[in-house]
This record gives sequence, C-alpha cells and structure tokens, in this order.
Amino acid sequence: MYLDNAATSYPKPEKVYEAVIHAMRDVGASPGRGGYRRSLEAGRILFQAREAAASFFSISDSARIIFTLNATGALNLALQGTLVAGDHVVTTSMEHNSLLRPLYALRNKGVELSIVPAGPDGVVSVEDIRRAVRVNTRMIAVSHVSNVCGAIQPIRQLAELCREAGALFLVDAAQSAGYLPIDVERFAIDLLAVPGHKGLLGPGGTGLLYVAPHVPLKPVIQGGTGSHSTAEEQPLVMPDSFEAGTHNLPGIAGLQAGIEFLRERGLSSVFQHEHKLLNQADRALRDIPGVTIYGPEDSSARCSVLSFTASGVDSALLAAELDHGFDIAVRAGLHCAPLAHRTLGTLPGGTVRVSPGWSTTSEEIAFFSDAVVQCIGKIRTSA
Ligand SMILES: Cc1ncc(COP(=O)(O)O)c(C=O)c1O
Repeated sequence: MYLDNAATSYPKPEKVYEAVIHAMRDVGASPGRGGYRRSLEAGRILFQAREAAASFFSISDSARIIFTLNATGALNLALQGTLVAGDHVVTTSMEHNSLLRPLYALRNKGVELSIVPAGPDGVVSVEDIRRAVRVNTRMIAVSHVSNVCGAIQPIRQLAELCREAGALFLVDAAQSAGYLPIDVERFAIDLLAVPGHKGLLGPGGTGLLYVAPHVPLKPVIQGGTGSHSTAEEQPLVMPDSFEAGTHNLPGIAGLQAGIEFLRERGLSSVFQHEHKLLNQADRALRDIPGVTIYGPEDSSARCSVLSFTASGVDSALLAAELDHGFDIAVRAGLHCAPLAHRTLGTLPGGTVRVSPGWSTTSEEIAFFSDAVVQCIGKIRTSA
C-alpha cells in the first residue's frame, strides 16, 4: 500500500499512462524542432499542456508557464533568475531544502536572508514576517503547505504584505498544487513553483514555474530553443528561452492528462476524499498511547500530509516495520526540511509521514492504523 503521495503520487490515473505512451510511441518527435507533422503534433501537445496548466491555476496567458523537471527546478529558476547581491529575502523555518539550499547558495553571493521561525504548530505569523521586512526586501518566499506537518500558510495575507512592501511573492506549491485551489492572479502570486508529479498526478520529471508578467526573470540555463538560432545570447522569449534543450514531452503529455483527471473529478472532491482519509488516520493514531501528531490541532488547517511520532519508537524503524511486515510505504525521517523539524521539536529522529492519494481507500487507512498499533507494540516489546 502506497502512502507517500507527498513524495510523488502513485498510482497515476490510467489516462496519464496512456498519454505518456501515446507521446512516446505515436508521436515520438521533439516540439518546435522541425516542420514535419510529428514535430507539429508534439508542439500541439506541449501547447495544450501549457493551456491546461494555465487554466488550472487561473493564469490568463499560458506563455507565462515554464516547464521544469520538478518543483526544485522551478524554485531554483525563480530564485536565481530574479535575485542579485544586495537583495534581501524573507523566508520561513518551514521550508524544504529545495528552497533553502538555493537561498543559502545565493547568500554566499551577497543576497541577504532572513529566516522567520514558525510557531510550534508549523504556521508562520504574518506579523513576524512583516517585522523581518527591510527596505531592500526583494522577495518573500514561502511554501503554501508544509511537507513535514501539512500546515497551511496564510498566503493571501502574505501576498498583501508583499504588495505593501514592493516585494516579489514566491510560493512553493509542492504540497498544495492539486490539493487546494490556487488562483495566481487573484492571490497576487508573482512566482509559483509547482511539481507536476505530486498532486497534479503527472509523471516524474515534470514541474512548472509561473512567472507574472511584471517579473524580470533571467534564464539560468543557456541552449537551443528552436528559434532565434543566430543569436549568441539566450533570446528573451517566454517561455522558450527558459526551456532550452529537448522537452520531456511524454512527461508533459502525462501531466496534462493528470490535470484533466483532476478537472473531471473536481479538485475539491479529490481533496475532500484525501482529507477524510487523513482525518480517519488522525483519529486512529491519536488513540494509540504515546503518539504525537504534529502541525495545527485543527485538521482543517492541515493539508495533504500527516506526521507523527510514537514515544520510545524510532521513526525509521517503525516505517521499516510497516514496509517489511505489512507492505505499507510511508516516509520516515527529516523530510528534507531540517529547520521545520527544529520548529516542531522532532529533531533528530524526524517523524513518520503519511500521505494518502486519490485512489487510497478508507479500508486501507484502517489497515494502516492497525498495522501501526502492531508495529509499535512489537518495537516497544523488543526494546
Ligand atoms: C515543500 C516542498 N518543496 C519542494 C519540494 C521539491 O519537489 P520536487 O521533488 O518536485 O523537486 C518538495 C518535495 O517533496 C516539497 O515537499
């Protein structure tokens, strides 16, 4: 049983597999690289996928979407493509290494960085962020939902703060895209980093960055774009200039199918299903003596993941017991977000993280909860 959809979603809807195979077997060519029909068909797939993603996030111009390999690629481009020495960035203690590490690297090149600690429930305070803003604050960068405890951050208020401060607003939607509705124009998001392979149900190797029209973004990779071939410098054409090299067309075709699946089922009905399962797991785990669940107490302030520890039980050992004894896949440890674990008080062992998906059933969550009871009992007895 797969309960690690926060890492990558599995299984994918059937039409995602079909779209990948169609792009590989029936189309085969690279988009924008030839005038022959296969290449034109590949270009059509690329365009349609961009349009589907634009419509999903209420983006009026799909050319503002840059396809990347994952959320990490989108975050790196957003940060490295906008920040220069002397700029100040405010971020939070709940961030993933995919946001923190590029920021640390930029700090070594003269970008100033403030990391605002979240509360013990993993939620950041808008007032704390406001206090960290300086005259040279160029960007506020936050994850919409914590990948460690599922805490949903107040991004609407943070967007307002960015407007007041004249700062860019970068949202890491790795754990919210495909779960919560995101309207970039209404939410006033300047840069939105999205994985294609998690909540959007696309294949691995897919992601995207939305860049608002007023954001001056510089390419961080140079190479062939299929256009302006005599120019020595990378041409500045959205989105081609930021997608140098051959596209992951099968992946992007699958991503479009994933987005279509969510549209057909309805984002809110998929989310409600997953949230009901998280609540079921929450209730069952709370009944186990010595179990602590992290993040906001109110489960409606949490999204996509549930993290817990059991006193006297090593999280990695518990996850291994669940895997070997019951064939249940959950993530254990630090979840690539060390500062979030410090905030939540779960260093050094981390937590066990459960993240059901669109196809997980209530029976599976009941089986998982029983398995946790048995594994904890076994580990405690053998200690
Ligand atoms: C909050 C957060 N940001 C960024 C990432 C990186 O995503 P990707 O694996 O698509 O690069 C993850 C992955 O788990 C994440 O949870």
